[in-house]
Amino acid sequence: MATTLITGGTVVSSTGRQRIDVLVDGERITALIDPAAQPFGPALADNVDEVIDASGMYVIPGGVDAHTHMEMPFGGTTAADTFETGTRAAAHGGTTTIIDFAIQTPGERLQDTLELWHTKAAGNCAVDYGFHQIVGDVNAESLRAMDELVNEGVTSFKLFMAYPGVYYSDDGQILRAMQACAANGALMMMHAENGIAIDQLIAQHIGRGETSPYYHGVSRPWQLEEEATHRAIMLADVTGAPLYIVHVSAKQALEQIATARGAGKNVFAETCPQYLYLSLEEQLGAAGFDGAKWVCSTPLRSRAEGHQDELWKFIRTHDVSGVATDHCPFCMKDQKEMGIGDFSKIPNGIGGVEHRVDLMYQGVVDGRISLERWVDVCSTTPARMFGMYPRKGIIAPGADADIVLYDPKGHTSIGLGKTHHMNLDHSAWEGFEIDGAIRRVISRGTTIVDNGIYHGKTGHGQFVARALSQNLI
Ligand code: URP
Ligand code: ZN
Ligand code: ZN
Ligand code: ZN
Repeated sequence: MATTLITGGTVVSSTGRQRIDVLVDGERITALIDPAAQPFGPALADNVDEVIDASGMYVIPGGVDAHTHMEMPFGGTTAADTFETGTRAAAHGGTTTIIDFAIQTPGERLQDTLELWHTKAAGNCAVDYGFHQIVGDVNAESLRAMDELVNEGVTSFKLFMAYPGVYYSDDGQILRAMQACAANGALMMMHAENGIAIDQLIAQHIGRGETSPYYHGVSRPWQLEEEATHRAIMLADVTGAPLYIVHVSAKQALEQIATARGAGKNVFAETCPQYLYLSLEEQLGAAGFDGAKWVCSTPLRSRAEGHQDELWKFIRTHDVSGVATDHCPFCMKDQKEMGIGDFSKIPNGIGGVEHRVDLMYQGVVDGRISLERWVDVCSTTPARMFGMYPRKGIIAPGADADIVLYDPKGHTSIGLGKTHHMNLDHSAWEGFEIDGAIRRVISRGTTIVDNGIYHGKTGHGQFVARALSQNLI
């Protein structure tokens, strides 16, 4: 097994930073070594296979993106990144673990759909991966199968209060699935938007000829996110299930979550970079059909209403627990274009798996969050929340050697043809300039990206069977 010493850098964790060297043996971190402890440090450098000079760099645990949709079937098409292309893009962006969603639609056996997602991912991933399970057909058999999945390392389940007739669960189904989670210890994840009301608004806008991408946002008002979030919190409270609300975009929904947390409930929020930086007015409201690039659900919110700044505040107060991408890329050509003349036919999703670590670092540069909180929301809390800690999410002896060298003096231009390895014909982040750069990405001891050059291997990534969440009371 090869040994590597990462020397000269500042190791950052969710709780602090330290000038310390990292010793890697094979796939694991074996020691943190104080370089001042002579003569151990220098002697060691002569006795390892490789010395990596991390002078001036932050040495951080590899990113954990707990919300991706590779190859997701949606609205008659399929998300453009395969597990192969999407995890390669993730690697370039300093993300060394993804958790993707296996999807059950009505009539399918839950175990069969998980099996199908295993088939799609196995042997194709550049970085490690786990699965959540979407339960799109809550019935007695699905409920029983949830217990089996927990034993197979799939310890979180997503339900939809949106998308009637597709993935939607009614309140009775939600209640029963939450009862199953309360009993087996799994985490209930919720897409919290009132889909029944939204479908009426969509039909009304289309009927009035308001068909441009902007109306995707208008037809999914914050009130219907706040209402669904509140309802999910109350249903979870009745059942005792822990609850994780995915892709929160409305400040009012976060106020519901903050209130629940203040009352001691096991309720957690995830947000995504798009809700922190982008808006209804600037992106969804772009000229012509361009806004389609940013059609996702929950939708981008109004900057005039101030959602973006409030979301950053809720990251600081820990009412937002983690930041994921909800990476669900669709090309403009042939995919987003399906919705020209009818925004409701635009496949929902934004590609961003490659940019999360950089975009969130910008919050450090702008003074919105600390270096430690950056590591926390990008890596440590997602690892803990989804039962992968301390194998993932920390630089410590015994952990997988998933390590990113981040250069705070570097600069990254985001956009098509720059830092962009996603299988997309556009970039939702075109023109973003980042102070900071990813210099090296190490996955289980192997350098997979070095100064932007990919050295990884398709199939290097392994399935991570997850334990129950470690964030619960
Ligand atoms: O627009 C989105 N978010 N697409 C992916 C599916 C989902 O609801 O997460
Ligand atoms: Zn969703
Ligand atoms: Zn999603
Ligand atoms: Zn190299």
